Amino acid sequence: MRKLRRARLLVTGGAGFMGSSFIRTLLSQEEFEGQIVNLDLLTYCGSLLNLENISGDSRYNFVLGDISDTKLVDELISDYHIDTVVHFAAESHVDRSIESAGPFFKTNVLGTLNLLEVIKNRQHIHFHHISTDEVYGDTSIEEPFTENSQYRPNSPYAASKAASDHIVRSFCQTYHVSACITHSVNNYGPFQFPEKLIPVVLEKLMNKKPIPIYGSGLQIRDWLYVEDHSRAIIAALEHSRPGFTYNLSAKNPKTNLDLVHNLIDVFAKLKGEDQASYKTLISHVQDRLGHDMCYVVNPEFSYTSLNWKPRVDFDEGLKQTVSWYLQNSSWIQSVLDRGNQSATSLECVGAKQ
Ligand SMILES: NC(=O)c1ccc[n+]([C@@H]2O[C@H](COP(=O)([O-])OP(=O)(O)OC[C@H]3O[C@@H](n4cnc5c(N)ncnc54)[C@H](O)[C@@H]3O)[C@@H](O)[C@H]2O)c1
Repeated sequence: MRKLRRARLLVTGGAGFMGSSFIRTLLSQEEFEGQIVNLDLLTYCGSLLNLENISGDSRYNFVLGDISDTKLVDELISDYHIDTVVHFAAESHVDRSIESAGPFFKTNVLGTLNLLEVIKNRQHIHFHHISTDEVYGDTSIEEPFTENSQYRPNSPYAASKAASDHIVRSFCQTYHVSACITHSVNNYGPFQFPEKLIPVVLEKLMNKKPIPIYGSGLQIRDWLYVEDHSRAIIAALEHSRPGFTYNLSAKNPKTNLDLVHNLIDVFAKLKGEDQASYKTLISHVQDRLGHDMCYVVNPEFSYTSLNWKPRVDFDEGLKQTVSWYLQNSSWIQSVLDRGNQSATSLECVGAKQ
């Protein structure tokens, strides 16, 4: 750890699934002597329960607030002498963006613009933008997206993330902001809010409720363990080149249906029960509007230039994830109780993914 060792980071959305993993992973490195300021609005999916084990760490600070609040962001950057921004905060659930796109453009586009406006005249600050493979739109397993693929977002969520990527690029070109963008495939692991595919399936299995699968379930998504993503961001902060973009994947493409079968197998095995009865819970429902069939990226450029490779094998990652949810059913209940009840009406397999 060379650049990051004494870095002073503003992490946005650090109480969410991926942001909290990044904070836990960075703080687990004893050689990190810097500071992390976690700016999070604690919307329905953000929870301080995700950070309980590090809340007393002297290198960590939490600030409740909105990335769109110019005065607050400006003060935090000055008061904490921030030199690095890692931007996770977003509205991230595709189904919600189809129901109502406005909040996605407010947070993902205008919120990102606000952060960049605040830092554009502070040339010492590096901005790392967390983006998604969904900005590239639909592809086939034979044609994984590369960093040069065309942007063709198909959902309001993907369009809002694409717009934010373009703003980052424009600030890089126009104002010489030091910035980098990573496009990750679907993440999985502990602490994911139960509206996304894997935690929804596990919550249904735990309660022996029907598992709704969009359409045929043959949509393909590529899966990366969340701690591997966190290590990729640390590697990018160390080794990325400003103005460059990097695709992140562990090369685990699966159909949604195969993934659900895998989850049932692991779940039943851990419970010492027969998988057959759980498989009868699978229930195909009407497909999502504009549902992309396949997202898959080629991560070779990241592997060679970031000195990063995923460490967690898919079967092992899935086992760890299922075990974690089985041991943390009270976490599921707490975050669902806190999140608004619409989370339950939007939960469908394939959601986001
Ligand atoms: N989950 C995935 O598989 C995946 C894959 C690729 C990229 N991404 C991107 O990674 C980032 C994090 O995703 P996630 O799954 O952890 O999301 P999440 O929904 O779990 O967390 C989002 C966090 O942002 C916070 N937030 C929302 N609006 C805010 C605002 N205006 N100001 C401050 N904080 C705000 C929320 O409270 C929450 O803690 C997002 O930018 C998402 O687009 C996610």
